Parts: sequence; C-alpha cells; structure tokens
Amino acid sequence: MDCQDGVTACHEDIERVLLCEADILGIVERMGAEITEDYRGQNPLCIAILRGAVVFFADLIRAIECPMEIDFMAVSSYGSAARSSGVVRILKDLDTPIEGRDIVIVEDILDTGITLNYLIKNLESRGPRSVEIAAFLVKDVPGQRSAVRPRYVGAHVPDAFIVGYGLDYAERYRNLPYLGILKPEVYS
Ligand code: PRP
Repeated sequence: MDCQDGVTACHEDIERVLLCEADILGIVERMGAEITEDYRGQNPLCIAILRGAVVFFADLIRAIECPMEIDFMAVSSYGSAARSSGVVRILKDLDTPIEGRDIVIVEDILDTGITLNYLIKNLESRGPRSVEIAAFLVKDVPGQRSAVRPRYVGAHVPDAFIVGYGLDYAERYRNLPYLGILKPEVYS
C-alpha cells in the first residue's frame, strides 16, 4: 500500500511512506468502532505494550466509546537489534489484577508473533475472562505464519524495516506522525 494524497512530508531517512496521517486516522477510527461494538457493557481492560504501541494506543482509546480501563506492560524481544532475540522479557508488569476481566492487548506490530504468543500465554495464566488482540500492523513475511490471530487488525505491511507512529529503529523515528519504510542504508 502507498499513501496517495502526498500530504505527509517525508523524513530524509524514509524510503517510502506507507500510511500518512489521514490513512492512520481512518484505520484507528474503524478499529475503535469495532471494539466499541464488541465490548458494549463490558468495561474491558486495554493493555498497551510499551514502548512501540504507545502512539497507536493513545489514539485508539480515544476512538473507543464504551467504558474501559487502561494499563501498561513493557516487554522487549528485540532490544536495539533488527531481529527478534526470540526471548521475551517483561520489563514492566501490570498494576491491575486481571482475573475475570475482558482484556484487549494493544500492539503496534505483529511480526514473528513471538511477543504476542508469549503475552497471551502469560496473561491467560492469570485467569481473565477473555483475551483479544488489537494489532495496528501485521507484517506479511513470505514463509512466516504466526499462530497468533489478532481480532482487530489495522493494516498489513510488507516485509521491510518499518518505522514511525511509535515504531523505532534503535529508538529513533517513534515520533514520526506517519508510517514509513526506512532506507536500507540507515540500518545496514
Ligand atoms: C516490537 C513491537 C512488538 C514486537 C513484535 O517490540 O512493538 O512488541 O516487536 O515483534 P514479534 O511479533 O516478532 O515478536 P520491541 O521488542 O522492538 O520493543 P518496543 O515496543 O519497545 O519497540
């Protein structure tokens, strides 16, 4: 997919804009409406997975119109590397007990699925009533098929190094208001 309207000014390290701000707004509003519809009368607990999901989370919760609560977890499997280490570490756990609660895990991207697979198992062991996933992006990698199935998906993106709207390379570019593909020479 490409941003067609050209309104997003592109950072010099970005090869191509995938989703401009208007695209992102439309996606977030659609996902918020889906969650609102599904959780009416249930008071779900939406959990942001720091740090990448923070920008999406801030927008998504304002697009949800039913009562809800929020909490945060910080996990890391990538560190500053371009590839997942395969080992997920909890850097910050929830403050909220989740037994009997309806949980929506909010993630910026599903890539290998290692992070969400770990999180689902970890949270399900605490006895919630339900656990669903809202993933802003799902990366389509040839030959890679994750067992994780998010109930809410923003967009599918190609197998490239994607930054902006919360996603980083070596902690940079999270503040870009759009989503773009990083130029290979920046990370190779
Ligand atoms: C990123 C992203 C997801 C995870 C997805 O987190 O935010 O949590 O990778 O990749 P996976 O499906 O291959 O597990 P990262 O560890 O880079 O930390 P961050 O959120 O602080 O950027």
